[in-house]
Amino acid sequence: LFRGVEIEQAPMEQEDLIVVGVSQLGSESGWRSAHTLSIQDALTKDAGYFLILNNARQMQENQIKAIRGFISQRVDYIVFAPVIESGWETVLREAKDAEIPVIIIDRMVDVRDESLYTTWIGTDTKEEGKKAGRWLERYLRKMGRASEEINIVVLQGTLGSTAELGRTKGFCEIAEYHDNWHILEQRTGDFTATRGKEVMWDMLRRHEDIDILVSQNDDMTMGAIEAMQEAGISFGEYGAVTVISFDAIYDALELVKKGWINVDIECNPVQGAYIDKIIQRLERGEPVEKSYVVEENVFTKENVEKFMDDRTY
Ligand code: AHR
Repeated sequence: LFRGVEIEQAPMEQEDLIVVGVSQLGSESGWRSAHTLSIQDALTKDAGYFLILNNARQMQENQIKAIRGFISQRVDYIVFAPVIESGWETVLREAKDAEIPVIIIDRMVDVRDESLYTTWIGTDTKEEGKKAGRWLERYLRKMGRASEEINIVVLQGTLGSTAELGRTKGFCEIAEYHDNWHILEQRTGDFTATRGKEVMWDMLRRHEDIDILVSQNDDMTMGAIEAMQEAGISFGEYGAVTVISFDAIYDALELVKKGWINVDIECNPVQGAYIDKIIQRLERGEPVEKSYVVEENVFTKENVEKFMDDRTY
């Protein structure tokens, strides 16, 4: 799917194409593969683009190196999905000084000077966290458990990333209204199945009576499910541990349908077409918004089937 850290050069015969350097943060999850594919599908030669795609393997220094590479080869646009929010001021200023528009996708950057980027396309991760909390409120009411003591563990994504910060904050804001919700532990599984499994194993060892697992992406959820299976802990619709997940990739929706995941809060990876539209506007000299938020849904066993046919990732 990707080139390595070395940056590909746009050949001379591509002069009439719009050269776009994309720094993708990694390939850590099924969601990420869908996100990358959506960019590749939108920025094709037929659509007038020469795409240079770089995989940073979840390392900020690789992203900074890639962006510097794009600047030195004078690409027309830089598009990047930042692995974490902090630490981008210097390299973004270099891009601004070189007069290369920067389009930020998926996660956000935390910079004082908003003129350092042209626009951002992504998801409302804090709202995603709140949706998880609100679903849990309704679910506990429905199960007649609203006033029971409820023990929660949270598998967080990459610490300092927008998806982790937003989902943690959003869920905690709802949890604060409930004195009987106890967050026993919040630990990062770095958005990968392997780490999700390892951390879940450890949390199961440390806490006997977990009622709720909030897992900030589907890959970690799948790892955590494996851990619970191996530990002989029941989960999902009829089990001891209620499972709340995020992303809603196809494989996870299958598990929602089976009742293994109780609810999946969607994070929409289909952002490529937005990038194309924004670049086309900029090419025509038209103004663009400072941010674009993509639409998202919530999936449970009740509604999941009607969405599965159209889900391509
Ligand atoms: O930033 C989006 C998050 O990153 C997705 O939830 C996760 O799967 C990915 O790794």
